[in-house]
Amino acid sequence: MSETAAELTPAATVVFLDSGVGGLPYMAAYRAASRSSRLVYVADRANFPYGEKSADEVSQRIAGVVSRVISRIGPAVIVIACNTASVTALGHLRARFDIPFIGVVPAVKPAALVTRNRRIGVLATQRTVDDPYVADLIRRFADGCHVQLVPAPDLIDRIESGTIDGSGLDGILEQPVRSLHAARVDTVVLGCTHFVHIEAAISRALGDGIRVVDSVDGVVRQTRRVLENVSPPNPANVQTLSVDSLFITGVDDRTERLYRGFSSAFSLHFSGAL
Ligand code: DGL
Repeated sequence: MSETAAELTPAATVVFLDSGVGGLPYMAAYRAASRSSRLVYVADRANFPYGEKSADEVSQRIAGVVSRVISRIGPAVIVIACNTASVTALGHLRARFDIPFIGVVPAVKPAALVTRNRRIGVLATQRTVDDPYVADLIRRFADGCHVQLVPAPDLIDRIESGTIDGSGLDGILEQPVRSLHAARVDTVVLGCTHFVHIEAAISRALGDGIRVVDSVDGVVRQTRRVLENVSPPNPANVQTLSVDSLFITGVDDRTERLYRGFSSAFSLHFSGAL
């Protein structure tokens, strides 16, 4: 099949977008729950990491990618499968583009419902930790809880360079785990989508008695709900890819090799640069 092989099909296309591999477990969970959509994964590697950029930079870069996604892929909905991009840019994206977006934000609300000692940890990027959106989330849904925000950029780098099986992470998990233990949290929110790949390793490193919470099920439910109420773009005008596909921005040889591997691990056709 050629890289851009396409045919017209009535299936609505759902795009999952992250700076890297973080959105893949969300896409996989959505696919397990609903087989009727065409799925396209976009890894904005040219702009990785979002978590070390300013709010303005993240908003600008992601708007550029979304604009290309809409014109090339014509999705029915876009899942911003990235906490950093969602807390920083979702408002701008919704104001600028006339398409439904589903955001992924740290699962503070579910964590506040299950914590017994009212002490919650949030593992995320620096940008997410610093964003006023998260302070507001805590005020609204975890009032009265102590919430310890812990940035873990090195861990994200390691996952992005291919360690999605959670192996060899003990050393790099040590520092964030120490901060979470010191804060005596009994519940930890995975506030960066990359961490979902290594949820079991994080849970092991935290030890018994600490519950790990992610946002996967909530995002899958919300995506299905939104899709039910959306009319897919007119099939006469929109080309839909004939297979579930993965695109990256900013291709170099190493990234391409890595992403060909991720594509086959997640049953996606590697479609090169967007
Ligand atoms: N996966 C992204 C998130 O959920 C962060 C990765 C990055 O820093 O680009 O926040």
